[in-house]
Parts: sequence; C-alpha cells; structure tokens
Amino acid sequence: MKILSIETSCDETSAAIVSGNRGKVGILSNIISSQIDIHKKYGGVVPEVAARNHIKDIIPVIDEALKAACINEKSPNPLCKKGECPIDLIAVTAGPGLMSSLLVGTQTAQTLAFVWKKPLMIVNHIEGHIYANWIGQIGRNSKLKKPALSLPKGQKSKIGFPVLALVVSGGHTQLVLMKDHLNYKTIGQTRDDAAGEAFDKAAKILGLGYPGGPIISKFADLKSPVSLHSADAQGKLFAKGGKAGESVDFKLPRPMIKNDDFDFSFSGLKTAVLYLSNDLKNKFSGVLPEDIIYELCAQFQQAVIDVLVHKTIKAAKRYKVKTVLLAGGVAANKELRAQLKKAVECALGKEIIFNVPEQILCTDNAAMVGAAAYYRYMVKPSSAKIPPIRIKIDPNWEL
Ligand code: KG4
Ligand code: ZN
Repeated sequence: MKILSIETSCDETSAAIVSGNRGKVGILSNIISSQIDIHKKYGGVVPEVAARNHIKDIIPVIDEALKAACINEKSPNPLCKKGECPIDLIAVTAGPGLMSSLLVGTQTAQTLAFVWKKPLMIVNHIEGHIYANWIGQIGRNSKLKKPALSLPKGQKSKIGFPVLALVVSGGHTQLVLMKDHLNYKTIGQTRDDAAGEAFDKAAKILGLGYPGGPIISKFADLKSPVSLHSADAQGKLFAKGGKAGESVDFKLPRPMIKNDDFDFSFSGLKTAVLYLSNDLKNKFSGVLPEDIIYELCAQFQQAVIDVLVHKTIKAAKRYKVKTVLLAGGVAANKELRAQLKKAVECALGKEIIFNVPEQILCTDNAAMVGAAAYYRYMVKPSSAKIPPIRIKIDPNWEL
C-alpha cells in the first residue's frame, strides 16, 4: 500500500510517500523543508512564524513528494498514472507539538483525504520517531532507485519484542517499553528539560546559536587532545592560557544517574554549564578561548550521553528486552549512537539487537509518520477513517 504522510508538528514541513508491503516499510520520497534558518535569529522556534511558513510550504512540499516518488527510470511508478489517485492512505501527525503548526498539517491532510475519498490516519509524533526504526533502507530521500522493498515470505523483521526505545528529542526524553507493535509503556521520562532542549540551552549559554545539538556535537569533535591541558585524578583540567596556576574543574554532574528509577533530569546540567562558563570567562578576561568552548561542548555532551546510556542499559536488563531502539532528533548525535551501540553489545550481549535510524530519519520527517501509520493500519485498519472526521489535535498527546 502507498501512504502519503504529513508532518508539521514543529518547524519542519515534511511530506513523504512510503510503501508498505508484507510487514515492511520503504521510502519512495521524503521531502523536508526546514525552517531552521528562519528561527535561528530568534534563538528558537516562534510558533506563529512556524505556522505561517507551514501554510506557505505545505502544498509545494506535498507536490514535490508526489513527483519525487515517480522518479523511476525503468518502470513507471503507479503514482504517475493519469486520472487516478494511487494513494491508499493519508497519515498526519496530530500531536504532540505546536498547536498552530499541527493545525496546518491536519487540515491539509483532512482536505486531501476528503477530496480524494481516501482514509485518514492520525499519528502520534513520538510513535513516528520510534517507527523510523522499522523503515527499510530503500529509495532514500527523494530519489527512488529500486522498486519498493518486499520482505521474502516468512522472513521476519530483525527487531524482536520486547523492545526498549530511548526517545530523545527537543521536547521529549523517555524510555518506552513495547511488548508488541503499538503497545507502549513509558517506564521513565524527564522531570524537566528534554535532552534536545538541554543541548539547545547549553548552546545558547555558550553563544553558539540554534539548534544547539548539531553545533555542540560538531564542536565536541574539535576538542583538543587532553595533552593540551593537564588533568588530575579528579578530572580537574589545567586550562592553558588562563591565569597561571589556576585549575578549572570541567567535570559536570550526571543528574539522577544513581537513582533507582528510569527518570531523567537535565535542567541542573544546563545550570552547571552556565556556572562553569561564567567561572571560565572570569579566568579568561570575559571571552572563552575556542579550545575551552570545544572542551565544554565535549564535557556537556558526554554528561548527557552517560546518563542516557546508563539508564537505558539498566532498563534493558530489568525488562529483559530483545531489542534496544534509539529515536528522536538527538539520536542523530554521532557519539550517542556509537556509545549506546557499544554499551548494548558489551553489557547486554551480541544477541540483543540495537537499531537507530539513519540520521535524516532521526530528526523530524514525514516518512517516520508514514511508517507508524502503516503498522497501525496493519494492526487496526479501523483506525483510518474517510473524512470528514473530527481530528483531535493534542499538543501534549502522550503515547
Ligand atoms: O525530533 P526533533 O527533530 O524535533 C522534536 O521533536 O523536538 O529533535 C530536535 C532536537 C533539537 O533539540 C536538536 O538540538 C536535537 O534534536 N539534535 C541533536 C542533534 N541533531 C539534532 N542533538 C544532539 N546532537 C545532534 N547531532
Ligand atoms: Zn520530533
């Protein structure tokens, strides 16, 4: 089946065509129009501005997704047949997210479904992030290179239940246990800031711009080898260039890492970065040298990763899961991907599956919404309805 999916929950306008076949989902097109450059100057997403831009972009983005899905040199894609609409289902994110942004996507989806007389499925954004893990590796982005993937008869998806999903995005940080498809139990979540929010706020404190995650990750990579500084046993680094003989303790807290539950807290870590950078500014006459900023970014990133990895492994052991999934915008972080993968292998064993979507499918995109819709349709086809229907948009919709 072919699904047109739409995602407008925050500042990305995205539309995708995904193809579901024998329990496996592939991407025919996945167009993402990001508003990052627009919101950068405000230091974060401005909801009214985001909604206005979704209105401007949504139809061209859908149009491009439909056209891109037709790119197939050898056999014409059925989507191109004139005079008929080959879409079987329309899916759209209805929350969580920004109310005015969600309205644009849901109203567009409802209108198209009404005109084309196609069933409409609403999808939870977090569910979409998780289901990005089930997307097969075909026809990436807008160019369809191969025909839609179908799983040979009898072959099962490598993701086995129970699944533990660590969802880390700009608005959410949660550990979700899945005993089966669409069966979610949140076993832990952040009590204050989300992991992505912490990255964004730490970057703001350091004057690095928005969004903070990709910048901090890039700068952490540029961190000087330790030899540039000398470190003592407590982790105190002697930053060269500061006032002679002064040491600076770069070690940041690992909030709630020792707690028995699976909850997180990142607001204290952000405050620790603020105090540390102020302290350092005093030592460096008000301006932080580049290598100190790189060091700070690396220390902050590692503090977040340590907590996320520790709690995920502990939960995976407690619930005896067969698969660990990583999802959400922060899952694009190179170090987190590598360190969680290694921790799963070392602490849980090679028979436990670890999966994370390719980076472009971690941050907001419509293909993940299409993937979630496909599995929902497989499990409960009646959850798709032909409009007009009453769509309940919920900015705080919990899994
Ligand atoms: O899932 P997402 O695209 O949007 C929400 O649903 O919130 O996640 C966006 C978040 C932002 O906070 C951004 O800073 C973070 O994901 N992010 C990253 C990276 N790329 C995006 N955080 C750390 N490292 C990255 N490479
Ligand atoms: Zn998201």
